[in-house]
Amino acid sequence: GKVVESGKAEDVFTNPSHAYTRRLMSAVPHADAPKAPRNAAQGEVLLQVAHLSKHYKLGSGPFSPKREFRAVDDVSFTLRRGETVGIVGESGSGKSSIARMLLRLNEPTSGAALFAGEDIFELKGKALDGFRRRVQMVFQDPFGSMNPRMNVRSIISEPWAIHRDILPRERWNERVVELLELVGLKAEHAARHPHQFSGGQRQRIAIARALASEPELIVCDEAVSALDVSIQMQVIELLADLRQRLGLSYVFITHDLPIVRQFADRILVMQRGRIVEEGETEALLVSPQHEYTQALLRAVPQPKWLRSDPAPIAG
Ligand SMILES: Nc1ncnc2c1ncn2[C@@H]1O[C@H](COP(=O)(O)OP(=O)(O)O)[C@@H](O)[C@H]1O
Ligand SMILES: [Mg+2]
Repeated sequence: GKVVESGKAEDVFTNPSHAYTRRLMSAVPHADAPKAPRNAAQGEVLLQVAHLSKHYKLGSGPFSPKREFRAVDDVSFTLRRGETVGIVGESGSGKSSIARMLLRLNEPTSGAALFAGEDIFELKGKALDGFRRRVQMVFQDPFGSMNPRMNVRSIISEPWAIHRDILPRERWNERVVELLELVGLKAEHAARHPHQFSGGQRQRIAIARALASEPELIVCDEAVSALDVSIQMQVIELLADLRQRLGLSYVFITHDLPIVRQFADRILVMQRGRIVEEGETEALLVSPQHEYTQALLRAVPQPKWLRSDPAPIAG
């Protein structure tokens, strides 16, 4: 509730005097920031996506010909166990459509996706239940995905009520506390309700709930995009730490390139439903080949005293 420092923008940025300001500034992701720990060895193929497409029918009026809109257009990629693939692209490029198909929330128009060798789109019954346990999703808005009337204990225990074979009921309370501690929260938080937390804490609860079903793959769709920069880096560090400790794999979707730089092993750049460029994170970001990737990188905000192009004239 207090102003701890004020001054000219450039001075505060380049030479912050208060410790708290310094902490805020160093949280802004930049090229030479330390990288999140990586699993050196890469395991077997966990997810193999081949020629995945999602088309929507548009314009069915009497004079407009039926057209097809290709939200996802012939997307293929592979994810190994322990690996993180970042999917980057501007809003509307088809990222969430891919996530929703991989989680069996939407049907694909065509294409295949194998998870641990089995075709996701063919799963039924027990095999589908098992898949829903092994693959979890973390969304941008954890508040929207939590029942506001449930306390944190019930939110985290929910998967155990659905998938009865994960954990016997007498171990639930103990495991809720373990999971809260794993994501950097406290035992006493279990009795609180979602509105009693900050955005960053709520995202930790969403991660704890995802972990409750002991997944192998977590799909994060803009999972840190709504958080402020210092909290973004804390959540990324948490995800990286869990990757290391639990051997998790991630599909990490974001419109924000600097965020994936710290975290992804490989990046796919999407534009209008297609992968226009892909590669190892550093190689791709240091020398982007496609002009769209270059444009995304240029779109990363620079302080005005570092910008080379003249600022637009107001009015
Ligand atoms: N049910 C739908 N009907 C028609 N178009 C859709 C539907 N769902 C998504 N789209 C369109 O598909 C495109 C990709 O959307 P989305 O996958 O959400 O992109 P992103 O997550 O990259 O912002 C957008 O242009 C969106 O308007
Ligand atoms: Mg989206």
